[in-house]
Amino acid sequence: MAETAPQTIYLKDYTPFGYQVDSVHLTFRLSAKSTRVLSRIQFTPLPDAADKRFFLHGEQLQLITAKIDGQSVSPQVTLQGLTCDTPDTAFIWESEVEIDPQGNTALEGLYMSNGMYCTQCEAEGFRKITYYPDRPDVMSTFTVRIEGDEKVLLSNGNPTGSGDGWAEWHDPWPKPAYLFALVAGDLINHPDRFTTASGRDVELNIWVRPGDEGKCAFGMEALKKSMSWDEDVYGLEYDLDIFNIVAVDDFNMGAMENKGLNVFNSSCVLASPETSTDANFERIEAIIAHEYFHNWTGNRITCRDWFQLCLKEGLTVFRDSQFTSDMRSASVKRISDVIDLRGRQFAEDNGPLAHQVRPESFQEINNFYTATIYEKGAEVIGMLKRLVGDDSYAKAAKLYFERHDGQACTIEDWLQVFEDTTGRDLSQFKLWYSQAGTPRVKVTDAYADGTYTLTLEQSTPATPGQPDKDPRVIPVAVGLLGQNGDEVQATQVLELTQAKQSFTFDGLSAKPIASILRQFSAPVILQRDTSNSERAFLLAHDSDPFNRWEAGNALAKDSRIAMVLEGVAPDADYLDALTKLVRDDSLDPAFRALVLSPPSQSDLAQTLYERGHTPDPQAIYDAAETFTQTLAEALTDSLPRLYADTTVQGPYSPDATSTGKRDLNARILSLLTRLDGGDQAARQYGAADNMTLQNAALACLLKADKGEQQSQAFFDQWQGDRLVMDKWFGLQVACAAPDKAASLAEALTRHPLFDMKNPNRFRAVMGALAMNQAGFHYAGGAGYQLLADNLIALDALNPQTTARMCSVFQTWKRYDQPRQDLIRSQLDRIAATKNLSRDTNEMVTRILN
Ligand code: PHE
Ligand code: ZN
Repeated sequence: MAETAPQTIYLKDYTPFGYQVDSVHLTFRLSAKSTRVLSRIQFTPLPDAADKRFFLHGEQLQLITAKIDGQSVSPQVTLQGLTCDTPDTAFIWESEVEIDPQGNTALEGLYMSNGMYCTQCEAEGFRKITYYPDRPDVMSTFTVRIEGDEKVLLSNGNPTGSGDGWAEWHDPWPKPAYLFALVAGDLINHPDRFTTASGRDVELNIWVRPGDEGKCAFGMEALKKSMSWDEDVYGLEYDLDIFNIVAVDDFNMGAMENKGLNVFNSSCVLASPETSTDANFERIEAIIAHEYFHNWTGNRITCRDWFQLCLKEGLTVFRDSQFTSDMRSASVKRISDVIDLRGRQFAEDNGPLAHQVRPESFQEINNFYTATIYEKGAEVIGMLKRLVGDDSYAKAAKLYFERHDGQACTIEDWLQVFEDTTGRDLSQFKLWYSQAGTPRVKVTDAYADGTYTLTLEQSTPATPGQPDKDPRVIPVAVGLLGQNGDEVQATQVLELTQAKQSFTFDGLSAKPIASILRQFSAPVILQRDTSNSERAFLLAHDSDPFNRWEAGNALAKDSRIAMVLEGVAPDADYLDALTKLVRDDSLDPAFRALVLSPPSQSDLAQTLYERGHTPDPQAIYDAAETFTQTLAEALTDSLPRLYADTTVQGPYSPDATSTGKRDLNARILSLLTRLDGGDQAARQYGAADNMTLQNAALACLLKADKGEQQSQAFFDQWQGDRLVMDKWFGLQVACAAPDKAASLAEALTRHPLFDMKNPNRFRAVMGALAMNQAGFHYAGGAGYQLLADNLIALDALNPQTTARMCSVFQTWKRYDQPRQDLIRSQLDRIAATKNLSRDTNEMVTRILN
């Protein structure tokens, strides 16, 4: 059984499985090093099947016995699975296999985390548990018996019986194997109940390790809010008697939507004021919602094949962002989403890893859980909603759930319900799924005789495998402002469908100022020659909060870019506008915090690159430092008052209003620290009674290189709490000066609490290093080398997390030749590693090409 060369899988090759799976019965005899899995599966051959091969996936399984209708059989076994001769009519397949959960460091299949058993099957992990047609279009009901000494034995569906050392579960809803889950451990639950709209009484539990039971209440509230919201907004109810969430410490991703048994990275569910920041609370609420919403968009209606991943992920991200907008502030959510989209998805879409929202080939599906599938996939749904309108969107979604319940679907099915509801031809819209790359929309305008003309021109750069692109349909939301700041034309959605198109607005008394791409109505890069005064005008007057922020963001970027390229001082007009805005108490603190938050250094690098320059990370860093120092000095007199005014009084609450205020407060503190050398930050650290304040103060002190004492105190206080220790590891690297980041990260990898097998800890250090742009790219390449060393070491243990982290190299061609040479040599070194995983091999190969 030799290693096979990496194989590419194509969408066009899709063929259904030739058998129906009528039912699945599984028995688990748990043992850390040698768990036995017994399966009993009824298959019915499909008479019209194009492919009649009986192939069951199976990897890293030790086959003990195999039977068909009670008779022993001897299947042909390969590294990928087995084949066997089978009867022409329905038959029972039985197998017994042995697996090693303890030795499973890849965290895929059945593995152990801190003494508890848990599973991760998406995308193709079930084949590491037993032989099975492990593909999402094979759906069946599962009955599971677990035998083990652990106090708590959980699987999908409803509990049907339990006794000393065993428990049985039955899931009545047919599901693909990737939604299977099993958890066993000495866990404690935080229980609650929920009654659905139609009166079903549902038992809710969050299961955690002893000691963490005080950190479940917030997640539970978020779950109940999600359940109500999905009923109210989409008319979707929960469909089992019980809903379980389990927190595990070792997990490759954020969380997983297994039917009735969601498994969460503990960082995405455990929350308490003392240990979690505002940002943690917000993220936990969103992820709980996301996984819950998958019950309909993903589980009841699933994907036909993994090329359709965005069918469930894009839609579910879209739904969770609607939820967050409703629970908190819609404009703040939109602005944060766009910052995130530009930071991660635009980088991906404009580099060697660019791929379609629905890819047409892959080697390792784990490498396609990307910002493009998730976040751009959600943007595409947002555009669709904008184009058809809210009512049609609601009708089409309703039709989708009625028509496809219980099915494994494609993007075509999704678009069809919109065509059927609206009569609209969506063939051009479909290009959003099949063409990779971020469209550029160039804007020019003219005014004459009361008519204002906007001309929009679209083009999309070539991406790997796609040199030429056709024009797409792009919804461009536009509003017009008069010279006094009043809106003379309310928001209107222009549909750009051609390469170049003009739109006119009549009856105007003077040339208006256009607010274009309001709410960021399409994931495109707007190219427009605007004056700084026009931007300052929009920053002061635009009624669309997104574009108001956007105007400030564009000014911030341009000012920094001028500083980098021309060595000039920060733009005086922009500084002036900014200081006014920060001091304007009539504005929402959350909005002020966003306006104050600097454009990310990687966004600046990307923008410089787009404009034909080679970004110098050190110069970008220096410009940011100078800018912040100048801003702090310009605000000298106001900072103490602003700090006091934005200090939240009373007991901690993670609500949107307090969060926005604390965000602004943290920005003020960081400015203050530049003037007072850290006195206020040290006082805040000493007095902090919640993690948001403690973390913000420590960040300021570390950044000022004055945090040694507090960092030690933080360690002493929190060394017993894994999630807080992740912050301790990450924050030091994130706040390190460029010349110190790599050596500090290296030292931390030798800390007794550094644990490569724990993805959170690995990411805390290595992710923070990669995010510290000037530190990671510091001349000499120590950062690159350290990361490559660690990726090579991790690949042998955990390919999925290694491969994901390789993507930090994706922007390498932006940089100067010495940096490119250094990065290339590290990528080459990774690629040359013996027994490199398929995951990492695919990523490194794509990045290098
Ligand atoms: N499907 C999970 C989610 O979005 C993500 C995930 C993918 C988790 C693969 C684990 C493994 O919500
Ligand atoms: Zn998801």
